[in-house]
Amino acid sequence: MPATSSKSLLLRKLLLGIVLAAVCIAAVFAYYENRPWKVPEEAKQLKNPIPSSSQVLAAARAIYNDKCANCHGESGKGDGPDAASYYPSPTNLTDARHASNVTDGEIFYQISQGRKPMPAFKRKLTEEQRWQLVLFVRSLAAPTSGKP
Ligand code: HEC
Repeated sequence: MPATSSKSLLLRKLLLGIVLAAVCIAAVFAYYENRPWKVPEEAKQLKNPIPSSSQVLAAARAIYNDKCANCHGESGKGDGPDAASYYPSPTNLTDARHASNVTDGEIFYQISQGRKPMPAFKRKLTEEQRWQLVLFVRSLAAPTSGKP
């Protein structure tokens, strides 16, 4: 019957439309979740003026526990108590493959500027504290700190 077949054709087109829309929405969300940071070239090139030491890492751990762990988690896996309430979700800082792709300057910039929902720490922490955190963030991704 022509009436039924044109109806089912319409239905199929409608379904196809819904599927395509869902794919587009998923792609937009995936992009937003992994959106690259735009860090100025000169900020990327900055070198950490602070040499790493156990004292510096201990000081940075204290700042981290106070200001970062609620989102990024004590071990840096992005599983802090507040993590679930943020989108995009807080980055897993223990991902060594990711860590090897960013410079110290880039991490310093990210901590300083933030990006919603991550706050900017430029005014909340001194430059020295932010560089200490760069060392600490690096230590989270070091293979030796790879706790299960
Ligand atoms: C309110 C929750 C929150 C707090 C507090 C927070 N972060 Fe984040 N952080 C995030 C989120 C969410 C992202 C991902 C943002 C994005 O990709 O758009 C992020 C991203 C980062 C990144 C970038 C990783 C990358 O390359 O994608 C670094 C580094 C980082 N945070 C370090 C810190 C440090 C250090 C502190 C403490 C001084 C801190 N964060 C505090 C939520 C938070």
